Formats: sequence, structure tokens, C-alpha cells
Amino acid sequence: MSVAAQALKAIPEIDSLRLAGARVTLRRPLLSDAARIAELMNDYGVVKNLSRAPWPYGLEDAVSWLTHVAGHGGKPNDYPFAIVTSDGLIGVVGISTNPQNPEAAELGYWLGRFYWGRGFATEAGWLALGFAFDMLGLEEVEAGHFADNAASGRVLKKLGFTYTQDLARFSRARDCDVLCRMMVLPRRRFEDGTNTAEGGRNNGG
Ligand SMILES: CC(C)(COP(=O)(O)OP(=O)(O)OC[C@H]1O[C@@H](n2cnc3c(N)ncnc32)[C@H](O)[C@@H]1OP(=O)(O)O)[C@@H](O)C(=O)NCCC(=O)NCCS
Repeated sequence: MSVAAQALKAIPEIDSLRLAGARVTLRRPLLSDAARIAELMNDYGVVKNLSRAPWPYGLEDAVSWLTHVAGHGGKPNDYPFAIVTSDGLIGVVGISTNPQNPEAAELGYWLGRFYWGRGFATEAGWLALGFAFDMLGLEEVEAGHFADNAASGRVLKKLGFTYTQDLARFSRARDCDVLCRMMVLPRRRFEDGTNTAEGGRNNGG
């Protein structure tokens, strides 16, 4: 059994888990989130920066994704979380582990456009990384951003990630390969808190 699968077993409260930050809370996504996710993802500016989301993005796409991940219907290697504020769901952040290499995991995230530029992705990323390192016990987390998505690169830098390599990654929405800058965050650097993320451990988070 993979490390991640063992971890899932060891986290029986995963469906009721709440990871609370200063301004956002992470919780498991629910089928009832479909309409809100479809509303926020009906924006090419969001979807073009993701690798797997289709374009156009409609309610049926949200229902299909949620059916896949909600409750125990999801792959045991995927840990998506709804990012929730007083406005309700504003985006999604997740950790995906690789069944072939359980020690490797990848961070991904998106926010509805109205919520950009307020530090929410950095705060949500920090909470998801806490889950990856503290609850799943992973040793490092990877992330990649398309080279033309500087805002995401900045989020990863604030979280303490450093560049490793360029890869060509397929973007389903763009229907082509896009240059992707891969980055990594080892557990040690996360624990040192040598990042500038709001709520980082050196900041009392
Ligand atoms: C990328 C995304 C998640 C960022 O969310 P966010 O909540 O705005 O991020 P934060 O506010 O935490 O941080 C954004 C940082 O990028 C900076 N930034 C924004 N636009 C930028 C740009 N065009 N060039 C360089 N930096 C930029 C901001 O100034 C901020 O940095 P600062 O805190 O040093 O000022 C959001 O834009 C989004 O959802 N985009 C569409 C989906 C996506 O790209 N997902 C990531 C896939 S890898």
C-alpha cells in the first residue's frame, strides 16, 4: 500500500477535515459545490492555466470532477480541498500523489478571478502543504506553472518553492503543449519556514 493510501487510512476524518488559516478554510469538495465551481471556472483566464480542465467549462464538468473526487469516490491518491471564505467557495487547492512514486506529490490550485491578488492562493497553498507534510508525511512537494503564468510562479516562490526544470506540459484548455516551469519544496525548507508565505511557521502560523 502506498504511503498516501496508508495516510488516507490513517485520516478517517478526511471527509470532515477542516484546515483553518487566518482568512481561508480548506474542506473536502462536495457535490453541492458544482454550481459554484462551474460559475468560477467559466473563465478562460482561469482554465487556460490548468493542465487537465476542459474548455469551455460547464456544470457537467464540475459534476463529473466532483463525482470523481467527492467522498470515497475519488482516487486515494488525490486530496483536493475547497478554499472557503465568508463568501463561500472561492477556489480549489489540492495535493496529488503519484501511485508509481508515492513519495512524490504535486500541489495545484485555482481561484475565481474576483479573488485574485489578495494573498488567498498563498494562504491556501500553505495550508495544503501543511496537510502534505504533516498529515501525509511526504518528504517533498512539486508544483509547476506555465511560463506565461507569472502570478502562480510568484505564489510558489512565496511558499518557498525553488525552480528545478522546464517541461512541456499539455494544456487541455489550450489544446497544445505549453512550457511549464517545475519547482520543488522539500519538507526541511517548509519546516524551517524559510518562505515568506503569510501565516508561515516563523510568523506564528
Ligand atoms: C495564480 C493564482 C492562483 C494566484 O492567486 P492569488 O490569490 O492572486 O495569489 P496571491 O495573491 O497569493 O499571490 C499572487 C502574487 O503574484 C503577483 N502577481 C500577480 N500578477 C502578476 C504578474 N502578472 N506578474 C508577476 N507577479 C504577479 C502578486 O503581486 C502577488 O505577489 P506579491 O504578494 O508579492 O505582491 C490565481 O491568479 C489563479 O487562480 N489563476 C488562474 C489559475 C491558475 O493559474 N492556477 C495555478 C496553476 S499553476
